[in-house]
Amino acid sequence: MIEFPKDFFWGAATSAYQVEGNNTNSDWWEWESRVGLKQRCGQACRHYELYEHDFDLARALNHNAHRLSVEWSRIEPQQGQFSTDELQHYRNVILALKERGLEPVVTLHHFTNPVWFAKLGGFGNKKAAGYFLAFVEKVVSALCDKVRFWVTLNEPMVYIYHAYILGVWPPQEKSLFKAKAVADNLILAHTRAYQLIHGIYKKRNLPSPMVSIAKNTQAFKPCIVNVRNKFAAYLRHWLFNLEFLKKLIRGNSLDFIGVNYYSRSLVEARSWGIRGLLLDVCENNHSPLKKNSLGWDVYPQGLHELLRSLGRFKLPIFILENGICTDDDMFRWNFIYQHLACVNLAMREGVKVMGYLYWSLIDNFEWDKGFAPRFGLIDVDYNTYKRTIRESALKFSEVCKTGVLN
Ligand code: FCB
Repeated sequence: MIEFPKDFFWGAATSAYQVEGNNTNSDWWEWESRVGLKQRCGQACRHYELYEHDFDLARALNHNAHRLSVEWSRIEPQQGQFSTDELQHYRNVILALKERGLEPVVTLHHFTNPVWFAKLGGFGNKKAAGYFLAFVEKVVSALCDKVRFWVTLNEPMVYIYHAYILGVWPPQEKSLFKAKAVADNLILAHTRAYQLIHGIYKKRNLPSPMVSIAKNTQAFKPCIVNVRNKFAAYLRHWLFNLEFLKKLIRGNSLDFIGVNYYSRSLVEARSWGIRGLLLDVCENNHSPLKKNSLGWDVYPQGLHELLRSLGRFKLPIFILENGICTDDDMFRWNFIYQHLACVNLAMREGVKVMGYLYWSLIDNFEWDKGFAPRFGLIDVDYNTYKRTIRESALKFSEVCKTGVLN
């Protein structure tokens, strides 16, 4: 029998742009229409209107926590103009979670920006942290009496990689120079937001908040085991999984480590140069592992190894995303089961993990991949917006209820 602590957080995650619909002031919305993205976000899952219903389902599935993001472009549609209606909307959303016994985990930036901010150069602008802070101040002041867990940034490195290195997300720049500037500004934005949030709670005599980022992580494994591949895998783990966190920890700006984990990357360094050591991956597709519908390897033991490795920081860890897109729902359950077993193993070995949030509560808009990937515990029919609970969600709900993985 595999048992979890009684106070463990169980639930699922979403992000505003991917589920709400009609975020017309966002840079993603503008970009989708400009480049003519094949499948546009549109109404997404209409979660903006249907959130109470979605939270009823989460409650029925025995979740006791839920991660969501607030959409900056709704709250501050024009620079310096804050919408009291939208702030009230998110307050209602948080209250709806609390009424159902779900602990809110609130992300402040999940890949999307207001159009006005993007026009000023987004996080490439030297003043970006200051702009972000004004928004953070409003949101946190409006919600602090109801929220304990804050995630300032979702996957900063994934954001930089797609938007400023690969150039496949807005603003589609391909510049290492720009990427470095954005990284520095994001770190500054986080650090200052961390201090600001703590300051607000102190001033109001509220119990200390828990503030972190959601860090994307991967298991880096050599494809063919040779010295170069092993070294490259080690280097990537160190650089991509640990370095960003280390910087924030050194600056005393993490209260816990937020972890997003999905898959493994098969390292095949074709040279000793930067490209070889940092970027080359196996392209032969000969990995025997099962894959999700986007072709990502399913590799649960990577989560165990990662948690062990993060254990060195002696901070509590909260798994903020782990999930699979698949049309085979038993495969989804198997994925959850195997990953939870790995989490539990790491915990028995002494790593402190506070909770596990599955990505995602409902099927949603998977960025440039559109609506085809089905990550949800709950199916969404995009014609009728009807929700249907999947079998895997029911099995997971038993674990949430009992804390036991059978
Ligand atoms: C993560 C993102 C999330 C979702 C999942 C599948 O990288 O944070 O928004 O797209 O991947």
